[in-house]
Amino acid sequence: MKDVVLTAEESEVIADWSAASQQRAIETLGRYPEKRSAVMPLLFLSMIENGYVTDDGMRQVGVLTGLSPAQVQSVASFYTMYKREPIGDYLVGVCTSISCFLLGADDVLAAIEDETGVPDGETGGDGAFSVEHVECNGACGGAPVVLVNWEMIESVTPDKARELIRWLRNGRPEVVNTEEMQQLFGGERSFDWGIKEAEGAVLPVPAFGPFGSAKEGT
Ligand code: FES
Repeated sequence: MKDVVLTAEESEVIADWSAASQQRAIETLGRYPEKRSAVMPLLFLSMIENGYVTDDGMRQVGVLTGLSPAQVQSVASFYTMYKREPIGDYLVGVCTSISCFLLGADDVLAAIEDETGVPDGETGGDGAFSVEHVECNGACGGAPVVLVNWEMIESVTPDKARELIRWLRNGRPEVVNTEEMQQLFGGERSFDWGIKEAEGAVLPVPAFGPFGSAKEGT
């Protein structure tokens, strides 16, 4: 990792970010030989700071990476994990690709839509849940797969999906973690994932890489 010193313009553009996010931005830029290569993780940082990928967030990322607003937007609009409008505290995704579909993902999605009252692709009025179907998450052996803030649960039944939503609604956990949710609401896993991810997600952005889930990042 190389040391990065922000220019005055770069420092200015993220001056209203939390100190933790500013530090993460610097560390993220230090991971790449070319700063433009940091556009994707920096877009997630902008989501942490702004709640979703705002026009201002894309401008900030553009300044940090040296990319034009159009180039940043082309990335942000291509990948569905970048949200261009406010989303709920819990982003609940159901994989509906072929393996999950064959093992009942549509029923799991319907149970989640019914239990949350939120249709696929929308966010509830109280801001608690966003619901969406997603493409294959690479855990096809553990189908059907459900994700909460990108923390994965494998072999979920419709009944367990309803329990999951009630658990989220009633408990409002600050951190959601694959290991805990798998034990409570999952079935058989596709394989032993080996390294256990200890922390979990505090926001509807992935809890990996330089973001982690440390509370100070919120
Ligand atoms: S089809 Fe659902 S994880 Fe691959």
